[in-house]
Amino acid sequence: AAPRTFRIAAIPADGVGKEVVAAGRAVLDALAETSKNSAAPFAFVWEEFPWGCEYYERTGTMMDEDGLERLKDFDAIYFGAVGWPTVPDHVSLWGLRLRICQNFDQWANVRPVHFLPGVQSPLRKADDTELDWVVVRENSEGEYAGLGGRNLGGRGPGGEVAVQSALFTEVGCERIMRFAFDLARTRAHKKVSSVTKSNAQQYGMVLWDDVFKRVAADYPDVETESVLVDAMSAKFVLKPEDLSVVVASNLNADILSDLGSALAGSLGLAASANLNPERRFPSMFEPVHGSAPDIAGQGLANPIGAVGSAALMLEHFGLPDQAARLNKAIEATTAAGILTRDVGGTATTEDVIKALIDALA
Ligand code: NAI
Ligand code: MG
Repeated sequence: AAPRTFRIAAIPADGVGKEVVAAGRAVLDALAETSKNSAAPFAFVWEEFPWGCEYYERTGTMMDEDGLERLKDFDAIYFGAVGWPTVPDHVSLWGLRLRICQNFDQWANVRPVHFLPGVQSPLRKADDTELDWVVVRENSEGEYAGLGGRNLGGRGPGGEVAVQSALFTEVGCERIMRFAFDLARTRAHKKVSSVTKSNAQQYGMVLWDDVFKRVAADYPDVETESVLVDAMSAKFVLKPEDLSVVVASNLNADILSDLGSALAGSLGLAASANLNPERRFPSMFEPVHGSAPDIAGQGLANPIGAVGSAALMLEHFGLPDQAARLNKAIEATTAAGILTRDVGGTATTEDVIKALIDALA
């Protein structure tokens, strides 16, 4: 049979983004190769886009004017990381990653916190306790709505005033919460923890709490709790076995997911999916980490976060068995002690790619 093909737009962008996207592509192509003579062959057709900070320095723009138009018919976007010291971070982030997330209404950002064999967690508890949870991040509004301004009030030099507002809509809250509850129903531990700072932020986050209570009533089989973000950060460290699905606003979930990946052993391990659940636009898969300028270009980047994101992409394509194979290859690789420096090993990015591909064979 002719292979089922998936068209993927690759945007490696900056720093280690380039290394880990190349890694993910190599591993996915090796996976497709193994399907060649199977009953259900599949293949990936890649197109790579050169956008990022170097592109900005050359052209004055992070992505082409017609970039979204060119991306919109792909089956998915596979993204590296954006940001480099030569361009202000808010310019690079808004010019590329947030532009794609917002215009393609990728309102659900799924960030599993997954503990791998052979990788030491800074949590002693992880040695003898089964830990596994998912951060579900509201990815379209909240604190990253981009609402506000500078030079307000005309107070002049030294007296500048800036406002950064957070936007919460009932529709936005409800859809991310239903997503979180539906996800919880697929898990062994059917529980959703909602995170806010509604004691201090009395408008948007109280709306969030109210919607959470209303939506929870439709899921009587799912346990719930509401926890303030400061307490939740403590809970991540002290009682993580109590977590299953953690749903939070854009900023809070961004912070909590970095904490989660550090607890699992390294930022370099964490995978993420930016989903447009209605599938009106392509979804985007990327590691949680940034461009890591401190280690970029040295073959030290951990590719596991990017490869785990590729597994999330396979699930999105309706290939759960292939996703499981990829995740098994990741576990076999870390269990065998083939680890990059960030997780205490001496392996290079290349070594890990090779081990992953061998494990697939
Ligand atoms: P970062 O995630 O790039 O790095 C934080 C620490 O984690 C560094 O010590 C780095 O070496 C390490 N690290 C990150 N990825 C790794 C990997 N794959 N393997 C091994 N170690 C890894 O965060 P940082 O330093 O705050 O930001 C650097 C740049 O990345 C900035 O320009 C920032 O705006 C951008 N950024 C972009 C993101 C994205 O595109 N989604 C997310 C976060 C930051
Ligand atoms: Mg982050």
